[in-house]
Amino acid sequence: MENNNKRDSFGTKIGVISAAAGSAIGLGNIYRFPCELGEHGGAAFLLIYLAIVVLLGVPLMLSEFVLGRRSKSNAVGAFQKLAPNTLWPFVGYIGVLCGYLVFSFYSTVSGWTLEYIVKAVTNSFRGKDLATIEQDFVDFHNNGWRNLMWQAIFIFMTGFVVYKGVKDGIEKYAKILMPLLVVILIVLGVRSVTLPGAREGLTFLFKPDFSKITGDVLIGALGQGFFSLSIGMGVLITYGSYIKKNDNLTSTAFSVVFADTFIALLAGIVIFPAAFSFGVKPTAGMGLVFNTIPMLFNQLHSGYFFCIIFFVLLAIAALTSTISLLEVVVAYITEQYQYSRQKATVYACCITMFLGAFASLSLVEGSPFAKDGFTVFGMMDFLSSNILLPLGGLLIVIFVGWRLGKSQFFDEVTNGGTLKSPFKTVIFFIIKYLAPLAIMLVFINGLLS
Ligand code: TRP
Repeated sequence: MENNNKRDSFGTKIGVISAAAGSAIGLGNIYRFPCELGEHGGAAFLLIYLAIVVLLGVPLMLSEFVLGRRSKSNAVGAFQKLAPNTLWPFVGYIGVLCGYLVFSFYSTVSGWTLEYIVKAVTNSFRGKDLATIEQDFVDFHNNGWRNLMWQAIFIFMTGFVVYKGVKDGIEKYAKILMPLLVVILIVLGVRSVTLPGAREGLTFLFKPDFSKITGDVLIGALGQGFFSLSIGMGVLITYGSYIKKNDNLTSTAFSVVFADTFIALLAGIVIFPAAFSFGVKPTAGMGLVFNTIPMLFNQLHSGYFFCIIFFVLLAIAALTSTISLLEVVVAYITEQYQYSRQKATVYACCITMFLGAFASLSLVEGSPFAKDGFTVFGMMDFLSSNILLPLGGLLIVIFVGWRLGKSQFFDEVTNGGTLKSPFKTVIFFIIKYLAPLAIMLVFINGLLS
């Protein structure tokens, strides 16, 4: 058994930001965001998404950080410490469950990034037209074993980093590579908007048609906002517990929300002009990103090298996100049950592999895990993103606003009064009143539609 009294902590302020940003930035930005936007009518979705992120992003993220740092505990333990002998730890249990769910289907898509690295290295996109690239993607899905193999490799990689602990693992990997991803996205964006027919894609992305805003769009945008920022399931409670007392939580939250939203927007600018130009439908779902990107690299000078680098970076972005998902579960098991970090990691990875296999195999044509267009993969995604994350987020803001209260919140964000936090009053107002109301309204609206 390990000595659990000695908690790890992040080494530097920039380490904290890059770990939290590493969790936030991932397939959610580059893969899921374009998919959701494409399926929910384009610019109208973008507008709602931005409103949600701007209004709720920082307050929710800060709420989680505060709970984590104040309690110095995992998602479940935080509530046990701050509200002993109540039902509040239930919020943490939802988080741990949600962590398993998200990791399970997320690791499927993460596995695809590895397949696409191999495809890029072996130059298997070159000279192909859209129909062939699309067919290759379908064939790959139908190869269940190959999907399982990549998924297992990805889960193993995640386990390996988490097993090594916070400082040597998470922080080191997150630090340098995300800026590189931004650079390559900008290069791609420039190429994309200069393609013939790109304008239509930009119109789709930026010119809202307000009649498209339905309950479904609202809940989709809410779910995507939470998913992309990694809020609502205790990732940031767990990471908050590793943040040192003299770090500024508010500015960290602002930086992470800004970086995450910037990258999602950039991904939109890369994907939609190119998709319209090549004739990929915005409603193409999974294929939208995985077919458009290789086509785009075919149009790029030195596309071969850029394509390899892109998929490697995408895999790493996914890795820093899966690390955060696994960390929630591992921190919970080690602290609540006194398991060693190693043992907890191995168990959690095995459970995820078991659940994740259903997600991957449900995408094979004629799979017993799919019916009438509903797949286990889709259900896991829907249940976690559109239901459990908003529910978790709602309960977290209610907890901070009404149970923890203003003075403890202020004390934590100002580090005991030593730091200025000019927005703390507004943020607390949002946490206490606006955020619960907004989440509930979107929720009810979505459930009724
Ligand atoms: N935010 C990550 C992404 O955009 C995915 C992710 C990591 C996540 N941790 C999470 C999503 C916790 C929801 C909850 O790719």
